[in-house]
Amino acid sequence: MYQQLYDWFRRAIAGGQLRPGQRVPSTRNLAAELKISRMPVMGAFEQLLAEGYLETFVGAGTCVARSIPDDTLSSPALKSRKGLQGRVEKRSPRRMSRRGAALAQTPTQTWLDNLGAFRVSLPALDHFPIRVWSKLVSRHSRKPPKGIMAYGDAMGYLPFREAIAEYLGAVRGVRCDSSQILVTTGSQQALQISAQVLLDPKDRLWMEEPGYPGARQAFMTVGAQLIPVRVDHDGMNVAEIIRRGRDARAVYVTPSHQYPMGMMMSAARRMLLLNWAVRSGAWIIEDDYDSEYRFASRPIASLQGLDTDGRVIYVGTFSKVMFPALRLGYMVVPNDLVRAFSAARDAADIFSSTLYQAVLTDFIREGHFARHIRRMRMLYMERRRALVNAIHIQTGDMLEIIGAEAGMHLVALLPPGTDDVAVCIKAAQKGVSAIPLSTCYLKRPTRGGVILGYGGANENQIHDGIVSLRSALESCSSR
Ligand SMILES: Cc1ncc(COP(=O)(O)O)c(C=O)c1O
Repeated sequence: MYQQLYDWFRRAIAGGQLRPGQRVPSTRNLAAELKISRMPVMGAFEQLLAEGYLETFVGAGTCVARSIPDDTLSSPALKSRKGLQGRVEKRSPRRMSRRGAALAQTPTQTWLDNLGAFRVSLPALDHFPIRVWSKLVSRHSRKPPKGIMAYGDAMGYLPFREAIAEYLGAVRGVRCDSSQILVTTGSQQALQISAQVLLDPKDRLWMEEPGYPGARQAFMTVGAQLIPVRVDHDGMNVAEIIRRGRDARAVYVTPSHQYPMGMMMSAARRMLLLNWAVRSGAWIIEDDYDSEYRFASRPIASLQGLDTDGRVIYVGTFSKVMFPALRLGYMVVPNDLVRAFSAARDAADIFSSTLYQAVLTDFIREGHFARHIRRMRMLYMERRRALVNAIHIQTGDMLEIIGAEAGMHLVALLPPGTDDVAVCIKAAQKGVSAIPLSTCYLKRPTRGGVILGYGGANENQIHDGIVSLRSALESCSSR
């Protein structure tokens, strides 16, 4: 009752039904009139007095505050709002930065609205060792020390950074020590911070074409000029960069498992790219987002491990090997850039949740992490096989599968001339979440396709998902 009265008066004052200086009934009269107790009326008036909507004068009782200017109350913006919680009026575009305007052009992605079959980047959540995880969470939260609850270091929790440095050295061939590890809120933040530290507006950055749209967004927020470089079966076409890239500040690349096409960058191209970066003083941002999952061979060593000039900023994530909502990722920063990156992280959101950094440290140190990856590698290999079979059986040669036996997704090219956005919208209506390949291009693609994640879908879901996808495809082709 108190809240209703308070809201009613506030709305009436803001909406101009009660004018500045106008007397309002006494709490006694109002309570009698409304046939309620005086308590809620007094409570509401007290709040309105404290917030300056009402004022009292000895002998004159309570009035609407005269300090609320008349023209504020009658301004079109206020009038158009039906009360304070009303619907916001449609406006013509208001001025914002060019970067903001460009970001507003990002198309809505209805295919990401559901977690159905083929959701890209979704791991097998039902296979996550949740009992072990919750035990570790409760171990750390039962008697939390100060260090876990107070502000922490912008670079991250030291034992966690040590565990990451060891893991990267042993498994990914990354050369670093813990002082270079910056813990981030997923690799998306690592890309965003890299953009802020390395690029000025209009600086030129080379991106794989097709490439990862999240990286494009991150680099757009600093106003960088993005230049597409084609990928072929050996990855990014480095010769094109050497030919045209003299004034480039940086290059963004996914050498272990090109996103989205899935090929691996050849050793020769890796060397060419590193040499070019040294000669031209450019930075290489290496996004190593899912290289733990390689089925036919051992994981490929990182580009960072070949770098002798501190040119590579290495980015990794726990989103695929653990779960995305954990929001923990990391980057390996060249020594001379550590101060700048640490300050940028501090400016962004200070640091990541120490509790989950501590829990994950134990999860790694006690062997659960390596075991989980081993199990998921087997599972994803089976799921990939099931998806490839389902595509062949259900769609014949309508779809052309691209991508190495690695990671958690593959690309299926659609028949030439098919609109992949239309197919994905239709598929989303059937509960299937496929990403249109064309959204990964800066220029117009020659052929549409769909990116299909298989990590989070079991065999039945894969089968049903492909049946739905085929029907979406047929309804789009027959138009
Ligand atoms: C290539 C690539 N990089 C980065 C990310 C971002 O991952 P996160 O911010 O969850 O670590 C993704 C997510 O799908 C990705 O596919």
